[in-house]
Amino acid sequence: MKKSKFSKVGYVLAILGSAVGLGNIWKFPYITGENGGGVFVLVFLLSVFTIGISIFVGEIILGKIAKKDPVTTFEVLAPNGNKAYKYIGFTFITAILILSFYPIVIAWIFHYIVLSINSLPSTLKASETAFVSHIKDDIFLQIFYYTLAFIWISYTISKGVKDGIEKLNNFLMPTLFLLLLFMLFYSFTMEGFSKAFYFMFNLDFEKFNTNSILIAVGHAFFCLSIGVTVIISYSASISDKTNIAKAALSVVIMDVLTAILSGLIIFTIIFTAASEPNKGAGLVFITLPSIFYDMGTFGVVLALVFFISLAFASITSAVSMLEPAVMYLIDRKGFSRLKATIVWSLASYSLGIVVILSNTNDYSTYLTFANKNLFDWLDFLTSAILMPLAGIFVSLFVGFVLDKDKSRNALVPYFGIRIYNIWLFIIRYIAPISIFILMLKEIGILKF
Ligand code: PHE
Repeated sequence: MKKSKFSKVGYVLAILGSAVGLGNIWKFPYITGENGGGVFVLVFLLSVFTIGISIFVGEIILGKIAKKDPVTTFEVLAPNGNKAYKYIGFTFITAILILSFYPIVIAWIFHYIVLSINSLPSTLKASETAFVSHIKDDIFLQIFYYTLAFIWISYTISKGVKDGIEKLNNFLMPTLFLLLLFMLFYSFTMEGFSKAFYFMFNLDFEKFNTNSILIAVGHAFFCLSIGVTVIISYSASISDKTNIAKAALSVVIMDVLTAILSGLIIFTIIFTAASEPNKGAGLVFITLPSIFYDMGTFGVVLALVFFISLAFASITSAVSMLEPAVMYLIDRKGFSRLKATIVWSLASYSLGIVVILSNTNDYSTYLTFANKNLFDWLDFLTSAILMPLAGIFVSLFVGFVLDKDKSRNALVPYFGIRIYNIWLFIIRYIAPISIFILMLKEIGILKF
């Protein structure tokens, strides 16, 4: 069967769909809140527009040149058929690991869509109790919503690039942006807006600490979906007519804008209600619902719009996590798309069930190791270790192993020679060295 390709717009929406997700709307606002606001936002922006965008572009050209699954990509692009490089491609496993716990949050979102309609919590305290007891006691309901999310994700991937991924993103992404714009315009009218703006852009270096750098850089990876072969795999189905400079720039800018706008929207609502911005992971599941309740009928509308946007953004990201592994079985092991989808979905889904249990009262004692339950371990392992590690491999591969003529031919027509040289310098030296230093600090070998 001939492989289908993305249309020009379809490709941009698909990588945008992968990039914009929980990382932007859920995680970015709460880590900004925890890390003091403005300076954190600045460091995040700097990492996105140096290391982040360079590796992003690196992954695009790997996919575009090889047009294969990730493992084959590294194999065929290595000089003299050196087979060892193919192992970098196996970092698609990281995406499968993320896929096990990411839809757990999607399941919470589904639960909150239903709650928005009929039972928003009336006080902050009630909201906290509701959220905590959902995670700790509602095993059946969580598994139910998790299963729904997984069926949606797997069904989309089983339909292929054009009829599955492209179709889904063509509908969900524009709708998502309309919903976000609606919330943005509404937040302009709220009194907390200027406070939110100040919180996000005021540079208060007192609150700056070196741990925030690490979190900001790690988040740049997560937010751009790099270091997990997702961008490589989507770019394998790029059409030759796509201008990769325009595509990459527009996706990265839109991705960052979505994060910032979500932050503004959420903090506006929070400051208007005179609540605190530093509530951690519960910011959107605990603080927001009780504020929505206080707003009356319009609050219900706003709650629905908010949680539906979150669902749309995260489904398109989760879908992208499955594609590299599925491509691997199709291209290298001769599987049909359906069979490959079923195999990886079952693997990831089963792991996810254990992860759900690790959050619950009944099972958490068996599934907690060194004070972190399985959910936190997987989150930590993937975003603090595996993604940055793959980032180092990918940047060294693209910078030193990949034939320079190939990267030049792929990039110079779109970016020009000057930008190409800057990109090459970042991907060869700045990206791998700074990620390496940050990882040493994370593991505790370096202290600063
Ligand atoms: N970028 C997605 C987000 O911001 C997460 C993601 C990570 C998607 C890795 C694909 C691969 O939520």
